[in-house]
Amino acid sequence: MFAEPPIRYLTALHASEEPYPEDVLAQLNADAAQVVARYPEKRSALLPLLHLIQSVDGYVTGRGVHFCADLLDLTTAEVSGVATFYTQYKRHPNGVYNVGVCTNTLCAIMGGDQIFEELSEHLGIGHDETTEDGKITLERLECNAACDFAPVMMVNWEFFDNQTPESGKELVDRLRSGEEVASTRGPSSVRSFKHVSRVLAGFPDGLADEGVGAGPASVEGTKLAREKGWTAPGDGDDQQRGSTSPSAADQAGEGLERGRHDSTNVANEADELPETKEDGQ
Ligand code: FES
Repeated sequence: MFAEPPIRYLTALHASEEPYPEDVLAQLNADAAQVVARYPEKRSALLPLLHLIQSVDGYVTGRGVHFCADLLDLTTAEVSGVATFYTQYKRHPNGVYNVGVCTNTLCAIMGGDQIFEELSEHLGIGHDETTEDGKITLERLECNAACDFAPVMMVNWEFFDNQTPESGKELVDRLRSGEEVASTRGPSSVRSFKHVSRVLAGFPDGLADEGVGAGPASVEGTKLAREKGWTAPGDGDDQQRGSTSPSAADQAGEGLERGRHDSTNVANEADELPETKEDGQ
């Protein structure tokens, strides 16, 4: 007698054409109307709507594809084309926790490959597979823009920095046992995949500013710039225009640590191009 295999799909969208119950459909329509109203062209609402579908179904279902296509006047092929292009859209039932291990170059050589291999063995699943209890989907991730904390893991897109095979295994064990788990830079409790999908659809849960946005390693460069008196191109111009935007060096303090990301190029001016031969004639 073989043990039940893990949920394992690497293929086309899971069918799941069963219609939405009336109350679910009514809520979905109300939420989708809010999302669509944010865009001048309704087809532009497709990406957040696919997250909204995932917040209800746990992945992009066949009925979700039809819902988006009907609402946005798109073909189901167009919707499926988008849903199968981006890895954040899942083609099959996803675990409560999407556990990603960065195996891109820097994280890989810092231990990411080892973490993934040991986690895969520990959980008995491979890339894009889900444990039998439906709790964990394991994934290899490309760079998470957190190389300064390599090797990095993510749970439902929250950071877990400076991981080891041991800390990774302890993390998934805690998630599977239902323990509350805090990310290293982010909210004090990692929420479910469906919950986070609703936030990505544009319905904030108020947790975006909870925890530390950028840790000490992230602001090392700006601290050094402040010590040396270095400025980024545009900082001087902003001061001349009387801008109140903080300079990059100023942001090295508390603001960055709270996760503030202000742009100093408020005018969005075109770059100055070098003079070409034709221009000089
Ligand atoms: S290589 Fe892993 S976060 Fe950049």
